[in-house]
Amino acid sequence: MTAGTGKDTARPELAYDVSSIREDFPIFREPVNGRSLVYLDNAATTQKPQSVIDAVTRFYTRECANIHRGVHYLSERATESYENSRSKIRRFINANSLQEVVFVRGTTEAVNLVAQTYGRTHVGAGDEIVISAMEHHSNIVPWQLLCEEKNARIRTVPITRTGEFMLDEYRELLGPKTRLVAVTHISNALGTINPVQEIIRLAHERNIPVLLDAAQAVQHVPIDVQALDCDFLAFSGHKMYGPTGIGVLYGKENLLEEMPPYQGGGDMISYVTFEKTLYNRLPYKFEAGTPNVAGGIGLGAAVDYLESIGLENIRAHEHDLMKYGTMELWTLDELTIIGTAREKASVLSFIIEGIHPHDIGTILDKEGVAIRTGHHCAQPVMDFFHTPATARASLGLYNTREDIQALVHGLRKVKEVFR
Ligand code: ALA
Repeated sequence: MTAGTGKDTARPELAYDVSSIREDFPIFREPVNGRSLVYLDNAATTQKPQSVIDAVTRFYTRECANIHRGVHYLSERATESYENSRSKIRRFINANSLQEVVFVRGTTEAVNLVAQTYGRTHVGAGDEIVISAMEHHSNIVPWQLLCEEKNARIRTVPITRTGEFMLDEYRELLGPKTRLVAVTHISNALGTINPVQEIIRLAHERNIPVLLDAAQAVQHVPIDVQALDCDFLAFSGHKMYGPTGIGVLYGKENLLEEMPPYQGGGDMISYVTFEKTLYNRLPYKFEAGTPNVAGGIGLGAAVDYLESIGLENIRAHEHDLMKYGTMELWTLDELTIIGTAREKASVLSFIIEGIHPHDIGTILDKEGVAIRTGHHCAQPVMDFFHTPATARASLGLYNTREDIQALVHGLRKVKEVFR
């Protein structure tokens, strides 16, 4: 597997107890269409453990105040909780300093931030940004906007029919005009785990910085930004058992330091006159306005939760489930798995001949099984596989073999209906 080598702080003597993990998630006590919920839409968003819900509730009930501004008790307490979360995230991804951890709304905002700051200052006419053919829209459109403005162009690394990143073609694409490589660590539509260490090494040989989109990675594999040596890393809180509307941009300090601000407003300044504004130090230079304080605190609780189980344990559990799920899906005639890379995590995308994915999703829903159907915000991937949509089951740390069996049982019903 190609992730960084982030340390695992879970107690190794604890076996992976999925039943007790499920008890941490109140949603599993809510019936769906009169049945127990089988939640297999984790790539879209994950459910939240009670500890995350409690952290957010605690902020609103006992600590609610604006941060970095007040001298009063509540403001100091809220500031401390929020900044503690930043420390947890720094440790979680092994960033070198707190200055390198910028709170944003999510992966999309993180990528836009880099495009509009680093991109606008480093990309000019005729320059190139290298992405891959398996990116989702958040890691395509921000670069298109930049390229349109700068008269630059996107170069796309092709993928194989199994959904693997083509390293030789990538090497060929890197050249004197390449200003940045922006690739996904794990594909949301195919589940492919990309060889990110090698992708970064090849780019760095040519002094090209690399942005990793880790929206589908931080919750599945340990990530160590220093071991990976990526220049930027983007991820979302809500896909890693944290709240919506909060995410992180990691950036190497020297790069963030020289980048202009993204948005102007309160908190990102150190001194303002009508003639000129001096900007705040990192990371606040990129955090204009009142931030999502509750979200930041909840994200810290999500990190605590993930670490209490351990990313290595989560990876092993989900890997086992992926193998099981793949074998079970293979038992169904006329079903084709889209994305069969050797290294995969979490995602089982498929089509069934003659049945539209939306019909599959609707019938499964009646069975209490939640999956996503559609293009998964990755239309170019769908075009590549000549399908407008797929059905996608995506796994999380609380899923079980019984969930897979419920999926397969539901799919047999789908086939009966359309026989
Ligand atoms: N990018 C998210 C997904 O894959 C929304 O479902």
